[in-house]
Amino acid sequence: MPVIEVNNLRKVYGDITAVKDISFKVESGEIFGIVGPNGAGKTTTIEMMEGIRTPDSGTISILGLHPLKDSKKLRQRVGMQLQQAALPDRLKVWEAFDMFSQFYERFVDAQELLESVQLSEKRNAYFSQLSGGQKQRLFVALALINDPELVFLDELTTGLDPHARRSMWDMISGLRERGKTVVLSTHYMEEAEFLCDRVAIFHKGELLALDSVNNLINELDEDKRVEITLIEAIDTAKLNELETVSEVTRKGVELIVRGSSNRLVVDVVETLANMGAEIRTLRIKEANLEDVFLTKTGSSYRTVNNHSSNAGDTES
Ligand SMILES: Nc1ncnc2c1ncn2[C@@H]1O[C@H](COP(=O)(O)OP(=O)(O)OP(=O)(O)O)[C@@H](O)[C@H]1O
Ligand SMILES: [Mg+2]
Repeated sequence: MPVIEVNNLRKVYGDITAVKDISFKVESGEIFGIVGPNGAGKTTTIEMMEGIRTPDSGTISILGLHPLKDSKKLRQRVGMQLQQAALPDRLKVWEAFDMFSQFYERFVDAQELLESVQLSEKRNAYFSQLSGGQKQRLFVALALINDPELVFLDELTTGLDPHARRSMWDMISGLRERGKTVVLSTHYMEEAEFLCDRVAIFHKGELLALDSVNNLINELDEDKRVEITLIEAIDTAKLNELETVSEVTRKGVELIVRGSSNRLVVDVVETLANMGAEIRTLRIKEANLEDVFLTKTGSSYRTVNNHSSNAGDTES
């Protein structure tokens, strides 16, 4: 039985349909990512699964239970990190764990959780004394206090520095190793690529695509790209004739050659060598989730998304 089953889920706010008849399943033990730009419907969908918002139509089953009718039972088994959350300013970090653990029949060691999000030395700090990223990490830790089977993380790493983001990724991967099911939303395509077993791409309330990152990328016609800077400009006709090349874009001495075959790079370099062309720089790029988004929507993820999609360190 899937851990989550969502069928024809719909949510309307006035004249905005935030979620348009979405259906999907989440299997036990997977890290399931919901990606998409601002306003795509990620939080609305997650909060309907959490039983915080009421759908206008459609059905949701969480661990075989109903998010609203069985909310008491589910609260014991599910962890939630909300996109918008706050605690009283004068509450100390350790007191927050104390308070949260009282809601649950079963809870884990707070010290270990604090260590896993690098907040041990802040255990006596007031909530108001934490930085934005530290608050974020605290909320992720609090979502795990009841050792949940299923955890929802809405915008896991927004506001985290690259180091904190990496450690958060390690922690989430650790949850998978312990057999937990994780549903997370993120603006960062590279985060979804790194962490998620399957990714759902949301756009304007619709589910555009749902599959493993590899399958989504392999479905693209052009999943490879070679970016070359030459010493001197050349005529690109010979490159265009190559069977493995689907498109060549030239701007002065800069070339972008697209194709899908594993032979693409060798063919291109060989052809350039035969022409006597000299290469100043050459970069090979695999297609990524942003290319999938571009293909499905016709618009670039970076321009659609207000947030910069820049976790910083995954350029190749
Ligand atoms: N309580 C609400 N009342 C009215 N409209 C809402 C409400 N919540 C969300 N919306 C609208 O529904 C749409 C989806 O919002 P949602 O918060 O689900 O998007 P999101 O994908 O989580 O975006 P973000 O990446 O910015 O968090 C948006 O157009 C938003 O303005
Ligand atoms: Mg959101």
